[in-house]
Amino acid sequence: MGKVVWLCRDWLRRPVRVAWVSGLLLAAGAGSGGALAAATPASSLQVLHWWTSPSERKAADLLAARLAGEHVEWRDDAIPGGAGLGAGKVLKGRVLAGDAPEVAQMIGVSIAEWADMGLLLELDGVATAGNWNAVLFPTIQNLIQHRQHVVAAPLGIHRANTLYYNRALFARLKLAPPQTWDEFLAAARHLRAAGVQPLAQSSEAWQVAALFENLVLAETGPEFYRALFVQNDPTAAADRRTADALQRLRTLKGWIGSLDERPWTEVVGQFARRQAGMMIMGDWAKPELAEHGMAPDRDYGCAAAPGTARYHLYSVDTLAMFAGDYRHSAAQQKLARLVVTPSLQADFNALKGAVPVRRDADPARMDSCARASWTTFAQGAAVQAPSMVHRMASDEASRDAIIAEVQRFFLDDRMPVAESQRRLGALFRLFNLSSEGTRSAQDPDRRR
Ligand code: BGC
Repeated sequence: MGKVVWLCRDWLRRPVRVAWVSGLLLAAGAGSGGALAAATPASSLQVLHWWTSPSERKAADLLAARLAGEHVEWRDDAIPGGAGLGAGKVLKGRVLAGDAPEVAQMIGVSIAEWADMGLLLELDGVATAGNWNAVLFPTIQNLIQHRQHVVAAPLGIHRANTLYYNRALFARLKLAPPQTWDEFLAAARHLRAAGVQPLAQSSEAWQVAALFENLVLAETGPEFYRALFVQNDPTAAADRRTADALQRLRTLKGWIGSLDERPWTEVVGQFARRQAGMMIMGDWAKPELAEHGMAPDRDYGCAAAPGTARYHLYSVDTLAMFAGDYRHSAAQQKLARLVVTPSLQADFNALKGAVPVRRDADPARMDSCARASWTTFAQGAAVQAPSMVHRMASDEASRDAIIAEVQRFFLDDRMPVAESQRRLGALFRLFNLSSEGTRSAQDPDRRR
């Protein structure tokens, strides 16, 4: 079913915007003020986000400090859970309870989902003043726009197809960083023979699916990747290349040791303690490795995941502002303006492990890993693949269902590859039915 939005009043007779979307009743804008409240400007913003690891905390603190410089207080609401699994659910619950935060880390297709309900503040004035049209990469502009309005402020671009390898171990065993999956398996055999676990990897659903997207991208390139994860094409699910990627996922399971569902920070710890030779993870792992005293090019090497050197599997961090209480708009606009400024972009992304969303960023200020990420991304849509796990490719419900299916296959060795393909195809048919032909934010043909 489509979307209906209307304005009504809560039990205290405060104005509240209510939306009925896909069978779910959502409300926002209640609370102390409401859209019709007297317009006393507020100078603090509650920010809901999922940056809770020590290094993520530092990046968030930098944002808070710079915002304080603009005389706006950052009221922190950090929800643990890698890839925002917890934060997404808390946000829904809070909006439903009429308690939307003023700002939320909201990424990918979920921006369009919230904007569709009319709940996000339009930032067109800030975007025009900052010349965002000219300075942002086109893919970023596409992500933050909904029905020709800018509804989010972009912070940074993460690369999810990043391979980390322990330099000392590789030097000792005379191994080169693997560029293909066959080379990866050869290196893995050497590491195991030397008594080192080849790959640090968690069995947590989103982390397994993150490995799977890397395998799909390596196997097929961005075009097929999009057919599978953006268009959710059932024939792509049935394709031999999907079977090959699933088979490879199963092979890799043999190289990861225990099947614990560890948070990503523990996987980083395992790699940092030299208990594993390699790790495949987004570049948010870099600053976390720094927390363990590890530096790129010195202690570890950073390369593209095997078979994906030409591609950029991206997750873009963005902040969106809830529009319920217009007393906050001035502060919300200040934050939006701030995050796209060249200096904030350079400093925040250096701390976060991501790269600037600006085309005029200076690659000379980046480490080798970030430079490779930024210059690859700058080549444009043909080399870019939106991370399904990080909500860049499909809506939240579809993404949750795909992730669960991939993990089910990963954990159950008895499930035939063809059965997993059949189940994915069935899911895709369901998504396509319920989306009634409307495609995601990453579909170039969608209405902007
Ligand atoms: C976000 C990153 C975050 C990572 C781990 C990704 O979805 O884009 O900012 O560090 O998840 O939680």
